[in-house]
Amino acid sequence: MADFPLHRPRRLRTSTALRDLVAETNLMVTDLIAPLFVREGIDERVEISSLPGVYQDTRDSLRRDVVDLAEMGVRAIMLFGVPADKDETGSGTYDPNGIVQLALQDLRAEVGDDVVLMADLCVDEYTRHGHCGIVGPDGNVDNDATLEVYAKAAVAQATAGAHVVAPSGMMDGQVAAIRSALDDNGFVNVAILGYSAKYASGLYGPFRDAVDVSIADGGDRKGYQQDFRNAREALVEVYADLAQGADMVMVKPALAYLDIIHEVRRQVNVPLAAYHVSGEYSMIKAAAANGWIDHDTVALEHLTAIKRAGADLILTYLTRWFAERSGSRVAS
Ligand code: PBG
Repeated sequence: MADFPLHRPRRLRTSTALRDLVAETNLMVTDLIAPLFVREGIDERVEISSLPGVYQDTRDSLRRDVVDLAEMGVRAIMLFGVPADKDETGSGTYDPNGIVQLALQDLRAEVGDDVVLMADLCVDEYTRHGHCGIVGPDGNVDNDATLEVYAKAAVAQATAGAHVVAPSGMMDGQVAAIRSALDDNGFVNVAILGYSAKYASGLYGPFRDAVDVSIADGGDRKGYQQDFRNAREALVEVYADLAQGADMVMVKPALAYLDIIHEVRRQVNVPLAAYHVSGEYSMIKAAAANGWIDHDTVALEHLTAIKRAGADLILTYLTRWFAERSGSRVAS
């Protein structure tokens, strides 16, 4: 105020129209990616108790859901599979009859290129031990053995109709392995969204209910996901993924990592996604259900903050909610 004694910022806050006019960040439905779950062997969709409003879909209910989202302007989904059977190597990830592959075929036939079909690429939903890779004889996740499975999964997902594959297992070299497998099999136009800076977070709890995963022997993912004490390391991961051919990168989770989102945005020019994860969603739902916060206000504030920090794209279980309320596309 010393330099500009006549400046009164409140003048620009005096009406909704004026506030909309000067808003620096506007959330749009096209910014959002809906994470969806398809489960093998069920006849009706099942609501996930720790993720109210989110379902394990059947192939049919998934198809209906995606058509519906598309009509509301949603441009992309991220698909996760819940197989009926798990094994040691996660073979359901590359089986042409694996649940995600079948669902991708359905969706591609139904919506074609109108919705960007992204497939999460990891083995944790498909392995008995629940780790994101192949567990070697020493009990540790074997990085390079896992890359071979990821390469096969990428080809299976692309064959089934995925436009984008999104490796989320945090193995070193995973983007390079997937890129060369895709290229060798004629999928030069299938893009890779790297879950590049993915932290070992307590906020994934409800997701593990969604995909029926529990990690064997009370284990965790700290041996491959990032330590939340580290920020610079996120850039090492992002640059590694870009060098290997990632088309887009992601920071995950989102709200506790806005500093990382901001810094990655400053440093790289590819599209940047952030994942507003299951625990972030459930915290809003639980507090709102108790009447402690207002759901819509907080949901919009959180998503807008993620965009304001620098994310171009946000994966969020709030996508349907936002699409339903955002006819005008201005989110104030
Ligand atoms: C791994 C994967 C996870 C999530 C997305 N992909 C779980 C994990 O790494 O433990 C979490 C997403 C969320 O919490 O919403 N396949």
